[in-house]
Amino acid sequence: MIIGIIGAMDEELELLLKEIKLEKKENKASMEFNCGELYGKTVVIVRCGIGKVNAAVCTQVLIDDFNVDSVINVGIAGGIGKNIFPGDIVIAENLVQHDMDTSAFGDKIGQIPRLNTYDFKCDNELVELAKKACASFEKNFFTGRIVTGDQFVADIEKIKWLSEDFGAVACEMEGGSIAQVCYLNEIPFVVIRSISDNANNGAHMDYEKFTPIAVKNSTNILENMIKIM
Ligand code: ADE
Repeated sequence: MIIGIIGAMDEELELLLKEIKLEKKENKASMEFNCGELYGKTVVIVRCGIGKVNAAVCTQVLIDDFNVDSVINVGIAGGIGKNIFPGDIVIAENLVQHDMDTSAFGDKIGQIPRLNTYDFKCDNELVELAKKACASFEKNFFTGRIVTGDQFVADIEKIKWLSEDFGAVACEMEGGSIAQVCYLNEIPFVVIRSISDNANNGAHMDYEKFTPIAVKNSTNILENMIKIM
């Protein structure tokens, strides 16, 4: 069984790449795929770059060229809601792309036109494993919907909209497109993120401050999860 692990940025994968027993590196679509063993499991770890297109290309390459059986996306996210704080973990149960809008045709915002599903559901088993990993790490965690768009959200009105119209607990810029590619290819996936900011007006400053702790937390959860897989 081969597990594909995607992070958007170098800083999100830095800690994991220190742990991999590297067997080979391969370049494809300007991305470096690190193949090897992580805690006894065969993995391919790759930095996809920021945004939905990078993430989608990366996921398809993992599936086609590296034959991964499942995909885990780790990294940071903006928290949505009063009770969620930097450092907290969010395990996605499903994802929606908040920047998809064909409402002119009567579609709900987020619906990919002519696709059979509104949201992209994470694999139950992987979600349960991620929850177990959080419990053994004694870490506060949330489960629910993560919304994705090609936007860094730093606006209170926008968070209100993401919360009220989507019921989202966190926002980021890759998970929903990784989810869509996995859905199209029938590959199980899960998205695990740690909160770096509250997506409000000071988000870019909180982001700088809290990213290192958020990365540490999401990496720890992933490590625990891989050990119990
Ligand atoms: N990733 C981390 N924080 C984010 C935010 N506020 N908006 C989008 N993606 C993020």
